[in-house]
Amino acid sequence: DSVSSESRGALIVLEGLDRSGKSLQSSRLVSYLEGSGHSVEPWRFPDRTTSVGQMISSYLANKSELDDRTVHLLFSANRWEKRSQMEAKLKAGTTLVVDRYSYSGVAFSSAKGLNIEWCKAPEIGLLAPDLVLYLDIPPEKAAERGGYGGERYEQLEFQKKVAEYYEVLRDSSWKIIDASLPIEEIEKQLQELASECLKECQKGKPLSLLWS
Ligand code: TYD
Ligand code: MG
Repeated sequence: DSVSSESRGALIVLEGLDRSGKSLQSSRLVSYLEGSGHSVEPWRFPDRTTSVGQMISSYLANKSELDDRTVHLLFSANRWEKRSQMEAKLKAGTTLVVDRYSYSGVAFSSAKGLNIEWCKAPEIGLLAPDLVLYLDIPPEKAAERGGYGGERYEQLEFQKKVAEYYEVLRDSSWKIIDASLPIEEIEKQLQELASECLKECQKGKPLSLLWS
């Protein structure tokens, strides 16, 4: 409408293999944006706090067995159950920095052998990120980083397959960051890319939907 409304927040997603540094960089990016006076929240998927999230968490910890397609749909449902809250926050002007999103969903399930189009289908209609920051690291190097935590997918051979599917998924809008660089250097790059993205959203860039 013609009434000047406050600008919306940005949906910023960090993706990458396990141990690529997403969690650290997400929290640093949130602190930076907060410090620059923005309203910002750290988010992550899976969101293990919901009942769907608890099923996922127990599966990842190898405490329960679930069929591959069932797990895929739970990860997707975990995003759907948060969709309206995400939209409300963005529209209210809050920027969300999200550690993993639909790309993880598709890359990890495809790496198990599920059809990639089948994997993408339940993600259609979720909010599309304004910015995808991909922390790029060779799987071997990620595996060396203090070892994996022992969850289901934290194995080198599997992570190599996940990396291949991330490559299939990436498009020209993704920002690929060399995750082997020093932490502060990565942090700086993310700050610049995020600031640019926030400006575009403030100028009125509309929210869009996956997967179009
Ligand atoms: P992760 O971000 O590694 O959580 P934590 O930091 O708590 O270990 O996510 C857990 C695992 O779930 C990770 O190996 C990626 C996988 N995953 C999927 O398979 N599908 C999804 O949709 C998402 C979001 C994550
Ligand atoms: Mg992990």
